[in-house]
Amino acid sequence: MRFVLNGKKVDVRAHAMKRLLDVLREDCGLTGTKEGCGEGECGACTVLLDGQAVNACLVPFGQVRGRAVKTIEGLRGRHPLQQTFVTEGGAQCGFCTPGMIMAAAALPKNATLEDVRVGLAGNICRCTGYSGIYRAIEAAQQKAGGGKAARPARADRVEGRAGTAGLPRRSPKGEGLQAGGGKAGGGKAGGGKRHARRSSAGAGSGKTVRGRRA
Ligand code: FES
Ligand code: FES
Repeated sequence: MRFVLNGKKVDVRAHAMKRLLDVLREDCGLTGTKEGCGEGECGACTVLLDGQAVNACLVPFGQVRGRAVKTIEGLRGRHPLQQTFVTEGGAQCGFCTPGMIMAAAALPKNATLEDVRVGLAGNICRCTGYSGIYRAIEAAQQKAGGGKAARPARADRVEGRAGTAGLPRRSPKGEGLQAGGGKAGGGKAGGGKRHARRSSAGAGSGKTVRGRRA
């Protein structure tokens, strides 16, 4: 099947119903994209499909024919977010980080804090409390000449918890994360461990857009 992967035209042989996540990791050797829940809840597998953030665990490979897929490897370690996630404490164990960065990369320029919260609502982080992630996005926007809207409110900065930052608290489905191996923007896969859950819209019909479950 032909599609554009990280800016290059590729032809990959895989079953049309194979998950894009598996095609990327197994057939393309791009292991920066992680599997957490495997069911559209955590955002660890976030990639860009025609510029929109999607959960690669929900996208059948057949849907990418002729389209453009960008993974964390496609940022080549040079995207401002990959630097600011490190400098601003947006990454700790690093498991969520590739997905977080890809979701953040899909945000509009000069995204407000609300834009950031909504854009990252499908991505769970069990380590950072989100404040570092928001700071990283703000810093990346400033590097890129954007605004400073992503700065968390004081209560968020102090408490640094998902709930206080306006994000729903969700119980983790499985047990802890594998520490280590988590460079911002491309750590090692966490051995298939399950991650916290977050809802996401399905892959449907070529318009695969993430969102919240009602
Ligand atoms: S692995 Fe895809 S959303 Fe969790
Ligand atoms: S840094 Fe987000 S889950 Fe560990």
